[in-house]
Amino acid sequence: MAEEIYSPGLEGVIAGETAISTVSGGLRYRGYSIEDLARHASFEEVAYLLLYGELPNAEQLDELHKRLQAAAQVPAPIIEAVRHFPATALPMDVLRSAASMLAHWDPEIADNSHAANVRKAERLLAQLPVVMAARHRLKHGKEPVAPESGRSLASNLLYMLFRADPSPAHIKAMDVSLILYAEHEFNASTFTARVIVSTLADLHSGIVGAIGALKGPLHGGANEKVMDVLRGVGKKENAEKWIRDALARKDKIMGFGHRVYKDGDPRAVYLKELCGQLAKETGNEDFEVMSDVIERVIWSEKKLPPNLDWPSARLYDYMNLPVELYTPLFVLSRVSGWSAHIIEQLDNNRLIRPRARYTGEPPRKWKPLAAR
Ligand code: COA
Repeated sequence: MAEEIYSPGLEGVIAGETAISTVSGGLRYRGYSIEDLARHASFEEVAYLLLYGELPNAEQLDELHKRLQAAAQVPAPIIEAVRHFPATALPMDVLRSAASMLAHWDPEIADNSHAANVRKAERLLAQLPVVMAARHRLKHGKEPVAPESGRSLASNLLYMLFRADPSPAHIKAMDVSLILYAEHEFNASTFTARVIVSTLADLHSGIVGAIGALKGPLHGGANEKVMDVLRGVGKKENAEKWIRDALARKDKIMGFGHRVYKDGDPRAVYLKELCGQLAKETGNEDFEVMSDVIERVIWSEKKLPPNLDWPSARLYDYMNLPVELYTPLFVLSRVSGWSAHIIEQLDNNRLIRPRARYTGEPPRKWKPLAAR
């Protein structure tokens, strides 16, 4: 029998191989640094890079835009179903259900080949923003707005939510946040997706499971909970005392700490720059100062750096996006990374089936019902 290796939470365990991204020595997608991608690429270019392994040339990018535009349609029965979901259904749960329902209408659901899965991934990238925006509007008594051709995914997303032309600064902010959220190696939701398809289940099943895993506040759900912290603190004068009290109570401060990045999350460093710019344009500079104080106190007390969710919550707040959409926005982006991992897993599959260390009762004798 092989030596028993156990690490709670699989911390530090190499649980598979990937050529999609690495967090060693900074975050890179397919070899490109996240800083270069965030500064120079569009989300569509990044999604192509993740799915196809290379950056697209101009013609390939143009073709991708056309395919995404053609796919940005959601079957009417799904929109009808979403219209009738209880008002209390959270947007994350609606997206999870929608991803599952979209499978029923996908023309290639039975085809689990590499090429079909790339096409399914592109369709989900185009369809899920339409569902999210439609549900948001319907919940507030407004009819859905159809996506407009010629807009980028980031621009259409804002357009479908607000039925207004988004500003270039808002489009840029949304685009960069989608790029930074797109992929992150063997995080909990990606690993979930890989476990699911390692049974040879289909791509949509992997995505549905991944959305469920992302929802929790220790993972994607943290970006919504960050707003509780920011609103709880309220103003910069309160920040130091509020955080010291919270740390004394041993509260977990959402948006801080990371399983892998112990010295700093490179995505957070980059997004903070953009937050600063948008805060200036929207008159939220005090909020930035307040966040700085919080960062400083948590670093000096606990040596915990902020993660991506810390600046992204502020960025979305400056764009007037409703908090309950923050984690769904993460989904719309991460579909690209999840899909790349699902495809990579299936290209070289081995069923993921670890062992557990047994901590239960020793062998026991069967007791008939009357004797219990
Ligand atoms: N606020 C306060 N204390 C925190 C903390 C936080 N956000 N994150 C970690 N800690 C503390 C832990 O309680 C632990 O303290 P202890 O040694 O006194 O017990 C110590 O820092 C080490 O953390 P640990 O729990 O080992 O980290 P982890 O690798 O298991 O967890 C996270 C990583 C992300 C789950 C954790 O940092 C967290 O819950 N962060 C908040 C949620 C969040 O922002 N998630 C998004 C991640 S991208």
